[in-house]
Amino acid sequence: MNTSCIIRGMGHCVPETRLTNADFERMVDTNNEWIITRTGIRERHVALKGETCVDLCLGASQKALENAGMAASELTHVLVATFSADSVIPSAACMLSHRLGIAGRMAMDLSAACSGFLYAMETARALIVLHPEAKILVACGDIVSSRVDYTDRSTCVLFGDGAGAVVMTADAPGLSGGRVQDVLVAADGAMGDLLTVKGGGSGTPYKLGETIRHDFFVEMNGREVYKHAVRAMSGVCQDIMTRHGLTRDDVDVFIPHQANLRIVEAVGKRLSMPEEKVFTNLQKYGNTSAASVPLALSEAVADGFIKPGNLVLLGTFGGGFTWGSALVRF
Ligand code: UT7
Repeated sequence: MNTSCIIRGMGHCVPETRLTNADFERMVDTNNEWIITRTGIRERHVALKGETCVDLCLGASQKALENAGMAASELTHVLVATFSADSVIPSAACMLSHRLGIAGRMAMDLSAACSGFLYAMETARALIVLHPEAKILVACGDIVSSRVDYTDRSTCVLFGDGAGAVVMTADAPGLSGGRVQDVLVAADGAMGDLLTVKGGGSGTPYKLGETIRHDFFVEMNGREVYKHAVRAMSGVCQDIMTRHGLTRDDVDVFIPHQANLRIVEAVGKRLSMPEEKVFTNLQKYGNTSAASVPLALSEAVADGFIKPGNLVLLGTFGGGFTWGSALVRF
């Protein structure tokens, strides 16, 4: 059965507080020039006022529902992609449903690090095939700052907090939004140790009274991750275009995972994608993990970077490793 899906509305939300490169110059041995030339990042929003993953997902979800012209009570499923839920139990999806004032629906968290949005979109597509009447909220949020060591200059400058959300339903005549043409996702656990957040998991548990170790935070072999990110993201974006007989000329807008401007440029080059088709907002937000792609998509639509009729290519790469691509026609 082939039921096509449509993104009916989208929204995003970031914490109030911003940390600029100048702030990091005061915190660790770094400088604005290094951060800009190596990453492109100028500032990031960080949950210093106590905002949680569910708070940001709620903000993004309310905007997505409003944008879709839908009430929360109409939702049938709530999916949250995150690695930094407010708690292990209850899940962020259960908490988000409750905050939205709904109960009795399927609510589930998904863990695919920075690729969370495409994994959740693929899951939503499968649910829509099973339940063609479904109205699915896909919220992606991370408080990466809760797992960043702000004394480690090699990681702390890279990340920010945020959330992005979309509402997906089966497509039908007369609906407006982003028609999901295809999603392609993949994973390879063999290289999982190159990017980890381990401490507190059952493989590296903490006992009562123990102080946290460095494994509690994001640990990354930046150079290796960089190489794999470029290779996997460009490969999976090429694969989805090939699968549909498309070339870069058919794509109007490319939204890659917002981790590093050099990665974005290298992927764009491999795909021969003209620079003016590539949307970036990592300069303002840093790498917001699961929120990265939906936050960029939501902003690109709101800013008018994506216009009606545009074919949008999404690409992602994250810890696990996980990666993916999608094609959406607006
Ligand atoms: O979302 C999932 C994926 N995550 C990513 O995509 C991140 C992928 N990796 C990267 O973006 C880059 O590898 C980084 C931005 C993390 C690092 O850039 P790089 O060009 O690979 O730098 P490097 O790690 O090779 O480090 C170069 C130098 C080192 O000094 P030495 O050994 O050459 O003396 C680092 O110690 O830069 C130093 N360094 C810094 N210097 C100033 C590392 N971090 C900093 C810093 N400020 N914040």
